Amino acid sequence: MLGDTLVARLSESRDTFAEVAKSRNLRVIASLLRPAVRGYVLQRGKQPDGRTDIDCAAPAHFDWKYRRDREDLARLYTQAKQSQWDADVVLDWTTPVVLDDPNRPLIDPALFPLANYPPFQRLTPAEKTRQYTALVSWLLSQFLHGEQGALFAACQVTQAVGWLDGKLYGATQAMDEGRHIEVFHRYIDQKLHNLYEVNDNLYTVIDALMTDARWDMKFLGMQILIEGLALGAFGALRGVTPEPLLRKMLEYVMRDEARHVAFGVLALQRHYKYELQAQELREREDWCFEMCVLLRNRFLAHEVYDEFWAHKMSRSEWNSLAMSAPFMQIFRRRMFKRIVPNLKRIGLLSDRIRPAYAEYGLLDFEHEKAAPELTGDDLVRDSEHPG
Ligand SMILES: [Fe+2]
Ligand SMILES: [Fe+2]
Repeated sequence: MLGDTLVARLSESRDTFAEVAKSRNLRVIASLLRPAVRGYVLQRGKQPDGRTDIDCAAPAHFDWKYRRDREDLARLYTQAKQSQWDADVVLDWTTPVVLDDPNRPLIDPALFPLANYPPFQRLTPAEKTRQYTALVSWLLSQFLHGEQGALFAACQVTQAVGWLDGKLYGATQAMDEGRHIEVFHRYIDQKLHNLYEVNDNLYTVIDALMTDARWDMKFLGMQILIEGLALGAFGALRGVTPEPLLRKMLEYVMRDEARHVAFGVLALQRHYKYELQAQELREREDWCFEMCVLLRNRFLAHEVYDEFWAHKMSRSEWNSLAMSAPFMQIFRRRMFKRIVPNLKRIGLLSDRIRPAYAEYGLLDFEHEKAAPELTGDDLVRDSEHPG
């Protein structure tokens, strides 16, 4: 019985495994295979008691001389100290959030993945509203799960990084991520009352970077890719929801996340330029590409599909509707708008890998502004215009 279930999950995930193998880099495939089996086949993120232990072995780097020799990271640390905020003070948690008023949906209905799908259009306004709310709950649940991964990754990165200024900055990021868990959980718990399980895809990405012993892979996975994804997703949601508390909350979180991406870029730029061999760089380049493909194609709200549509359409039909939905297009554009220029800036977008990105339409973003603004103000301004 258990064997049958595992085989069914394996077969359901075969497209994903095929995509993971896209780069044909054996070292990359080997490093992602175990996390992918734990995520997609064993579904380690979906345990009955809602708890998962991940074994992480990574070196902790001590410096008993306490050298303060990274001015750029020291500046980021100062800025992070001055930008701390308290969710009890800056957010008004008494704001009522109405979940079931068809005249006040939580997201713009025109952007819903099924907006143009006739069976969805035939639903009553109340049923449609229920699905808009479910999608927002699903998104915020994944944000919350991602923030938990970010907190632990920030702690790992803080112990592993070689510069004291990086460790001091990392301490502020751990605080930031703790605060993000606080606010997303509070919003889900008090306003939406609906927490979804972690998406298999997100679990696999988190598992891969938590269990990789190389410090720079954690930076790449968390600070460049996941934080890039988060900025894109937060900005996209902020652009399509009229709900004032959610908008304000995302605005504050995005300011922190912009600093986190900046930390990743500052830390990796020099390391990749001067300290790695060509073969090591190629492996990182291929690893990032695999991750980008996973993030682009697999973040498709399957848990919402299972809840409302599994008995009415196939998963591949849902995937193609979700992939072409306006919200997903906004989301992908915002996500890669940050990720691709940053990959270029840290030296992981060589002529060798460019055709692979071009095939997925991701090179369009390479000339976007690379440097993440340290305050994140521009990101917040951008999100006013979700196009
Ligand atoms: Fe965060
Ligand atoms: Fe973050």
